[in-house]
Amino acid sequence: MAEHFHALRVSEIVPETDDALSIRFDVPPELADAFRFKAGQHLTLKADIGAEEVRRNYSLCVAPGDGEIKVTVKRIAGGVFSNWVAETLRAGDMIDVMTPHGSFTTTFDVGAVRRYVAIAGGSGITPIMSLIRTALNEEPKSRFTLFYGNRDSQSVIFLEALAELKDRYMGRLELFHFLAEEEGEVELFNGMLDAARCGEAVDRLVVDPTSIDAWFICGPGPMMDAAEAVLVERGIASERIHIERFTAGRPSAGHAAQIAALQEGAAGQTISVTLDGRTRRIDFDGRSILDSALAAGIAAPFACKAGVCATCRAKVMSGKVEMTVQYGLTDEEIADGYVLTCQSVPAADGVAVDYDA
Ligand code: FES
Repeated sequence: MAEHFHALRVSEIVPETDDALSIRFDVPPELADAFRFKAGQHLTLKADIGAEEVRRNYSLCVAPGDGEIKVTVKRIAGGVFSNWVAETLRAGDMIDVMTPHGSFTTTFDVGAVRRYVAIAGGSGITPIMSLIRTALNEEPKSRFTLFYGNRDSQSVIFLEALAELKDRYMGRLELFHFLAEEEGEVELFNGMLDAARCGEAVDRLVVDPTSIDAWFICGPGPMMDAAEAVLVERGIASERIHIERFTAGRPSAGHAAQIAALQEGAAGQTISVTLDGRTRRIDFDGRSILDSALAAGIAAPFACKAGVCATCRAKVMSGKVEMTVQYGLTDEEIADGYVLTCQSVPAADGVAVDYDA
């Protein structure tokens, strides 16, 4: 079924660093199933700020076995939602939270003997923290290596929590901090996790990189691009590389022109949209399938409207659809016919999408 919003009570606001905090939610027993999640997934929060409804995605920083629901929010200069959270949201407040979603995850198995490596930058540690906790807890024979880039030691989110995990799971968590503005003794760790440093770190610190079972990358866009390129260059199979993006790059000029032509051509075409078991036929409004559904009064799920969060995911049941960008989907989901409806335009007659599939 499609994801839905529920009003949850904030049980605690936990300061993490000067500009990051975590929000813990109370989940009443009747919603426990709806809020079951996989390591690395995120929640969409919704609030009316000023006169506007604002939605943002924040990753869960806890493991499914931790028995709590908690996301981490980094305050961004000029960020409407993150500043509202920091200044206004308090324990005891109610806030609309969408049930968990996202595909930055893997399947853990108690008997598995695996090696995982994560490359994180800044608040990109949040979903990776969830994955580390889960791997260490649920796979007693697996090991995790983390390369974690930050400006300085003051800005390292979960500095102590990571050190505690390293102590608790002796020999199973390797931690390497890279600080851009602080000098330590080892030259490799002094500086940003750019392509050169990331490549050197992989070559010097990871034994046999192609045998790593899963790589997880989350952080600023340039860091993620650099890390991905480093791994691809070393022959690591793309299905082992998991990337969580929070912002999308721009489509090429040619692709943008192709989408614009499709939008114009498809305006007024009838599309069929299924949500919560109900199918409706609506007009394509010349923007996206999501916008058309919302304009027709269908409460289709969405958060970023930028092609990265996959909240608006639906399955194409018939017809053909073109997407502007598709960062939020895995190759497997694309092969299975899933699309991001916020990025989708009909490319042929008879398009039917199903949010419940
Ligand atoms: S709303 Fe985020 S990908 Fe469509």
